[in-house]
Amino acid sequence: MDWAINRWFSVLFLALVSFATSAYAEDSDPRQEVESQLVEKFSDGKYSRRGANECLRCHDDESEHSAMGIFDNVHGNVRHPESPMNTNQCEACHGPLGNHARRPRGDNQREPMITFGDLSPVSAEKQNSVCLSCHTDSGRAAWHSSEHAFEDLSCSSCHKVHQKEDPMMVAELQTDVCTDCHVRTKSDLHKRTSHPILNGDLQCSSCHDAHQTVNEYSLKWRSINDSCYECHAEKRGPNLWEHEPVTEDCSLCHNPHGSINQALLIKRPPQLCQDCHRVPHANVDIPEGDLRVRGGSCMNCHNQVHGSNHPRGRVLSN
Ligand code: HEC
Ligand code: HEC
Ligand code: HEC
Ligand code: HEC
Ligand code: HEC
Ligand code: HEC
Ligand code: HEC
Ligand code: HEC
Ligand code: HEC
Ligand code: HEC
Repeated sequence: MDWAINRWFSVLFLALVSFATSAYAEDSDPRQEVESQLVEKFSDGKYSRRGANECLRCHDDESEHSAMGIFDNVHGNVRHPESPMNTNQCEACHGPLGNHARRPRGDNQREPMITFGDLSPVSAEKQNSVCLSCHTDSGRAAWHSSEHAFEDLSCSSCHKVHQKEDPMMVAELQTDVCTDCHVRTKSDLHKRTSHPILNGDLQCSSCHDAHQTVNEYSLKWRSINDSCYECHAEKRGPNLWEHEPVTEDCSLCHNPHGSINQALLIKRPPQLCQDCHRVPHANVDIPEGDLRVRGGSCMNCHNQVHGSNHPRGRVLSN
């Protein structure tokens, strides 16, 4: 625990130094004032002797500032040896109580505590350092170089620690949170064909790792195709006759999130095919409006578009 606070403090201390040196140059920013107040509280380190019991005098079930939900999840579980409840309890995340419990006098505000989320005066990076001080496992190791860290997301823009169930651990809730920001993905999910995400069979984290951007598009696997093969192993090949774009990148033809066309296709055949292939064929005569090109389109004859193992399947047929 002590190192958790120390880490926070060291980050805050740096902030204080830069704050002190810039204080004369800028008009005082109320968010920075709160932050410097929090730094002071940390150096004072006045933790409550009663731990959570002290906080729950005011933040219990009946209060409009209730925090009780935490006792329904792992962070409130005393039996878990590494739970905050076995260190400084509420103050492990919110910092030392200090004078917060004192009734504010006159026009003064109640002394602040560390808060989390977009409205907090504390920067996302510092908020996250609280969480990361315990969550040092490999799953979070690459956080600092992830796209989401780069965009200044806080852990609590996705996670909620005062709820019984963290929304990231429930498929439908996770989809809602992710698509609140990723609106284009959201609209794709509602198109004619899509991966079964809206019904909860799959979730964003079936393919993406929100904590790291080690792979392209923060995918869980090395490449787009490796991701697809994970569940569509039959498309991996190798085939006697390969179709070049298939082995190169499935997303040349498919949108993984959804499409107005059949089978998540980014365009409707024959246009899809004709973007790369000039038809009519040299040797095959397909009259304009031929039924064979309608319906199944080019795939009426080239029915092994992902590659053929038929000895005579050079043109992707069987
Ligand atoms: C005597 C009552 C009282 C006690 C004890 C108390 N609080 Fe508060 N706390 C409040 C009230 C009232 C607010 C509402 C916001 C305000 O008045 O500024 C609040 C606000 C907060 C906030 C939100 C702060 C913000 O800026 O919006 C946090 C976090 C918080 N308390 C955590 C704690 C923790 C952790 C403890 C125990 C270590 C604790 N409180 C003890 C009364 C109390
Ligand atoms: C694991 C870290 C952690 C612990 C432990 C923790 N909190 Fe929180 N608290 C948070 C986060 C993060 C939020 C922001 C909302 C969320 O993510 O659920 C929050 C929000 C709050 C709020 C609402 C503040 C606001 O911004 O309006 C209060 C009040 C609060 N906590 C009090 C407590 C009390 C009392 C305890 C102890 C019983 C406690 N917290 C334990 C992390 C923690
Ligand atoms: C004092 C240490 C501590 C701090 C600080 C802490 N956590 Fe945790 N957290 C834990 C432990 C212990 C677990 C349980 C891990 C396990 O069982 O593998 C856990 C579990 C989780 C889980 C998984 C929950 C689940 O339902 O499985 C999430 C998500 C999480 N923490 C997010 C956060 C966030 C966000 C913060 C900062 C606001 C935070 N934690 C701060 C100790 C901490
Ligand atoms: C963009 C959303 C998002 C952000 C931001 C985020 N997480 Fe997560 N987190 C998730 C998702 C989604 C899961 C569920 C992963 C799964 O199902 O495999 C998760 C799972 C976890 C778990 C449970 C263990 C695991 O890997 O399954 C922990 C612990 C955790 N996150 C901690 C953090 C911490 C600490 C931060 C901030 C540094 C953070 N997360 C930021 C989305 C996010
Ligand atoms: C079946 C695997 C899969 C699932 C499930 C999935 N994605 Fe993706 N996602 C991909 C692949 C592959 C790419 C890169 C190729 C592309 O964009 O066509 C990608 C790209 C992205 C991108 C970056 C490019 C863009 O389109 O803006 C975002 C953002 C994204 N996904 C968000 C999400 C969200 C949010 C969810 C959950 C609603 C989700 N994804 C579910 C596979 C998936
Ligand atoms: C608070 C807003 C927010 C939330 C919530 C959020 N994201 Fe993002 N995400 C962003 C921003 C901003 C970017 C960078 C710009 C972009 O690509 O749209 C990004 C980028 C991405 C990318 C592209 C990364 C890359 O390497 O190109 C993926 C994939 C992604 N997010 C997936 C998710 C998933 C999955 C979730 C839910 C677990 C999620 N996001 C939740 C804001 C958010
Ligand atoms: C986590 C597993 C998973 C991953 C990864 C995955 N898929 Fe799927 N895919 C499914 C499931 C489940 C379905 C639903 C149909 C089924 O049961 O086969 C599906 C269906 C499809 C369909 C048919 C959709 C329709 O409406 O006809 C296409 C096309 C598809 N996936 C392409 C891809 C591509 C391309 C990738 C890589 C970007 C990919 N999938 C990655 C699980 C996955
Ligand atoms: C050249 C374009 C193209 C590429 C590249 C492509 N596909 Fe397809 N895919 C199609 C077409 C066209 C269909 C529809 C077939 C039909 O309706 O007869 C399809 C259908 C599918 C289906 C659903 C029907 C089935 O055969 O199971 C899956 C799953 C699928 N593709 C996965 C993949 C994967 C995985 C990759 C990458 C390894 C990939 N596709 C690359 C064109 C392509
Ligand atoms: C992204 C570009 C691209 C798309 C889209 C595409 N192809 Fe191809 N296709 C290629 C390339 C590259 C080759 C191998 C080089 C060549 O022979 O032209 C190829 C080869 C073929 C061949 C074998 C030709 C031969 O002589 O070996 C057939 C048949 C074929 N494609 C049919 C289709 C059909 C049907 C579709 C639509 C479902 C399609 N292609 C979509 C790029 C594409
Ligand atoms: C009636 C069946 C049939 C239909 C429909 C069809 N093809 Fe073909 N295609 C063939 C045959 C047979 C060959 C082999 C010709 C050869 O070996 O000389 C061929 C060859 C090809 C080739 C190899 C290069 C070439 O021109 O000989 C490509 C590329 C191709 N077709 C693309 C397409 C596309 C794109 C469509 C849809 C617009 C399509 N085909 C529709 C039967 C068909």
